[in-house]
Amino acid sequence: MVLEATTAGMFAAASALGDEVWTFWTFASSLILAILIGACLMSSVGVKRAASGTATAATSLVEFDEEDFLSMGMPEQPHLEGGFQPPNRLIHSNSAEAFDFDNENCKGQFLPLHRPTYDSRLNDSGQYRYGEHFTGKKRLWELRLRLQFKRRLNQTDLFFAVELEEYVPLSAATKRVMDLSVGGMRQVVGDRLYHTPGDPTEVAGERERPTIAMPLWTFDQFIETPEGETPPELTDPNLHEHGHRRFGQLREYRRMVDSLDLRPGPTFTFCFWGVSRFCDVIEWQATGIPIFTPLDLNLYCGRPPLHLVLYTLEGAGTGEEKRHLQSRKTYFFRCGFWSSLKRPSKEQR
Ligand SMILES: *[C@@H]1O[C@H](CO)[C@@H](O)[C@H](O)[C@H]1NC(C)=O
Ligand SMILES: *[C@@H]1O[C@H](CO)[C@@H](O)[C@H](O)[C@H]1NC(C)=O
Repeated sequence: MVLEATTAGMFAAASALGDEVWTFWTFASSLILAILIGACLMSSVGVKRAASGTATAATSLVEFDEEDFLSMGMPEQPHLEGGFQPPNRLIHSNSAEAFDFDNENCKGQFLPLHRPTYDSRLNDSGQYRYGEHFTGKKRLWELRLRLQFKRRLNQTDLFFAVELEEYVPLSAATKRVMDLSVGGMRQVVGDRLYHTPGDPTEVAGERERPTIAMPLWTFDQFIETPEGETPPELTDPNLHEHGHRRFGQLREYRRMVDSLDLRPGPTFTFCFWGVSRFCDVIEWQATGIPIFTPLDLNLYCGRPPLHLVLYTLEGAGTGEEKRHLQSRKTYFFRCGFWSSLKRPSKEQR
């Protein structure tokens, strides 16, 4: 199986580099696999939903035709698309303004940026919104998140995750790929990495959702803006000059992120792009790995949407219950997303 061979190769190469070297590449490749797998799981969720007819916030966003999307302000060009939970409106990549979200625990803004990978001339020319930012960089996309917490939280309990709504039975092959990539990720992220395929529907009582969760320092950049000061706009062309970045200073960066006191008052800005060169979201394909890619995410699995979430877990690290059950989670951010080229179709609902 091609994907499995790729994974094995990646981790072999990564472990040869040793602990001391920050194998950014390992991390990136592991994460992309996690995303691949996430997409995998998602796809079957779509099917299951269709079968059970369960209506969810994410599905209710996609009961529209092409013209409806345009009238909801979506660009004509291919783009990354999605929606928050609780739902307010549709969002899209490369917007001139960031999108506001607000829930009972946190409010803020979200701005996804994506290279126009559907048009390689445009991609190379840099003549598109945010093109200047991408020029000279390898990243294919960047997610920018501004958070204003409404309650203080203990970072030990905080997770940044990709999650699914329902359990999906996995083939033996998919399971092996997942075990390999999770093992590789754990070498880099350590105990703070949490992965679960979720609980099958036969399990009595509350069931856990399929999840891959990581600590906060998996974000590539953060900016803390003290209360009373104006945080940089997510659309700021010079945003990259603010705050701290992980690149080239992993240990120090981790220490700084771990010691952030996440509380009401300051504004916290986080940017994420580390895995982006391995995953073209607009084209919905894995990329950037010689010989093996491009690889259609749907080939193995992927039907959208993916859910990007930030939550705390009650009693993390204590007690009998280790599962990330919904009843233990407090969400601070939730966003489902997909490519406008591969919208969840009506048939898949
Ligand atoms: C877009 O540009 C990036 C960075 O130069 C490159 O890695 C990627 O392959 C390009 N994609 C396309 C479709 O041209
Ligand atoms: C955060 O939680 C951990 C364990 O869950 C605990 O050991 C630590 O003291 C807590 N920190 C604060 C600041 O409450």
